[in-house]
Amino acid sequence: MLRRLHPEQPESFAFTAANQQWAEAQVTKYPEGRQASAVIPLLWRAQEQEGWLTRPAIEFVADMLGMAYIRVLEVASFYFMFQLQPVGSAAHIQVCGTTSCMICGAEDLIAVCKDKIAAKPHELSADGKLSWEEVECLGSCTNAPMAQIGKDYYEDLTAESFGKILDDLAAGKVPTPGPQNGRYAAEPLNGLTSLKDYEAGKPQYNASVELADDLGDTVKRIDGTEVPILTPWLGKDGKATATKAAPKPPKAPAPAKPAAKQAEEAKKAEIQEDQPETLTAARGGKADDLKMLKGVGPKLEQTLNELGFFHFDQIAAWTPEEVAWVDTRLKFKGRIERDGWIAQAAQLAKGEETDFAKRAKEDGTYED
Ligand code: FES
Repeated sequence: MLRRLHPEQPESFAFTAANQQWAEAQVTKYPEGRQASAVIPLLWRAQEQEGWLTRPAIEFVADMLGMAYIRVLEVASFYFMFQLQPVGSAAHIQVCGTTSCMICGAEDLIAVCKDKIAAKPHELSADGKLSWEEVECLGSCTNAPMAQIGKDYYEDLTAESFGKILDDLAAGKVPTPGPQNGRYAAEPLNGLTSLKDYEAGKPQYNASVELADDLGDTVKRIDGTEVPILTPWLGKDGKATATKAAPKPPKAPAPAKPAAKQAEEAKKAEIQEDQPETLTAARGGKADDLKMLKGVGPKLEQTLNELGFFHFDQIAAWTPEEVAWVDTRLKFKGRIERDGWIAQAAQLAKGEETDFAKRAKEDGTYED
């Protein structure tokens, strides 16, 4: 199945204030320079807020993490948990159609979806409240057939119980997840054969269902009103809380580096920062389109302009010391060298075209 951005997209995206705070807190989990590691939690939060992942949401997350738009689109389009098209306003139903579920009646469940929601997957129901799709094994095979709805699993389904769940969802109710045939969890259908003592005094629901029932947010959008949004690794002042570090094991001696590598590193360390000549405004009021450089998108172009760089010839003239100066003022060190800005800028300053610039002009894509 092709996973592409939906042809109709909203104008913009922004996290709610509470979700923004949560998202910023997620980024603090990762060391400096590794903010991109927060991409999946942030995309997931954006989807929880809107129901699906819009292009503006993907770009918003990319900007937050200093990533190229294409990199975040790659993540969003790779994982099927991300919905790239609008979903039902009440719930999106994911019916498992893999072996165990198929043997136990997944086809009946899909027939219910076709009947009650829409003939084809990813189509909205007539009232816009529900949508559905068939997915691969969700790891709940002992409770087949099953479906994931929102964050939770509805298991041991029949066409009848499943149809009732869909009706309840469309009516704005949140049906209790878990096994729907009276089973507690994944024990044998004819009852426990061991650990029978556990029967007495067990809670009403198994732990997963209990938590889902307590939270009650199975199919709700996460818009920040469901406080507290937990960021336990941050103190009240929003800074990382000090924890007593466990004593570190003694370090093994580092393997000796090859002489060439040592020389290269020493040379790098020797390079001092030196501020290049900057401009207060573009010459003649017309700046070059710096996004024609591979690795520069709108955000980075703005940063470069703010630093005083508007033209390809300025960048082409940077010395290693000047590259080091600019590098320390960009979010990710090393990208100037990695993406070969100087060579690209030299070519573009002469009026020549690079492969990347040609492509960027043709299809309007760029990197950041
Ligand atoms: S086959 Fe359906 S959950 Fe595994």
